[in-house]
Amino acid sequence: MKLFVYHTPELTPTDKVPECAIAVDVLRATTTMATVLAAGGEAVQVFSDLDQLMQVSESWPPEKRLRAGERGGAKVPGFDIGNSPLDCTPEIVRGRRLFISTTNGTRTLQRVQRAQAVLAAAFINRSAVVKYLLQIQPETVWIVGSGWEGSFSLEDTACAGAIACGILQQTQSSPDELAGNDEVINAIALYSQWKDNLLGLFHHASHGKRLLRLNCHEDLKYCSQADILDVLPIQKEPGVLKNYY
Ligand code: MLT
Repeated sequence: MKLFVYHTPELTPTDKVPECAIAVDVLRATTTMATVLAAGGEAVQVFSDLDQLMQVSESWPPEKRLRAGERGGAKVPGFDIGNSPLDCTPEIVRGRRLFISTTNGTRTLQRVQRAQAVLAAAFINRSAVVKYLLQIQPETVWIVGSGWEGSFSLEDTACAGAIACGILQQTQSSPDELAGNDEVINAIALYSQWKDNLLGLFHHASHGKRLLRLNCHEDLKYCSQADILDVLPIQKEPGVLKNYY
């Protein structure tokens, strides 16, 4: 298994696809997706276009859908929720499909949707992602950070490092054997430095600061909890993810 880390979707190669692609948007899209599926959501369907989301979801009965729209960290008017995982309680999501569009995270999933296997990862389900990778042993794995409008994000690359470290802890591989590009070593170093203070890392991150300005302190605390959910969002059809387990 060779891991490749890409800090943003724009940096992924366009001339090939990996056996397994892992989209990461810790603050907060992939954290929200994992939370919804763990809480009994039927599926997560991702859109980069808000109007298309509204059009497609219109054919679903209101009691079977939940529309999440976020831009710039804030809820889009006319949607049921924004993109806070704390809004996704079992009472609200159970049995419903989450139709979601966010500033960056949903674009990442669309960018990699041609891969044979597409997963969504965050700190909260990191162990479930590592378990899958060790079980399936894909030859090539891309871990793709969502960043912010094409720029690097600390939290997404640190999560990529957490996934790499999880593999190293459970195999005899060395970092050099596992790493397919230098960004993997960089991600491991970043995570190793902050693994005991992920919330502190989020406070340094530009998007973490943006969310703090929006009074999303509790979101950051929730998103910083590693390995709390045994749930693995995996793509079942283009743009539609369900729990693998
Ligand atoms: C994103 O897509 O960039 C994030 O999920 C935005 C957010 O929810 O704050």
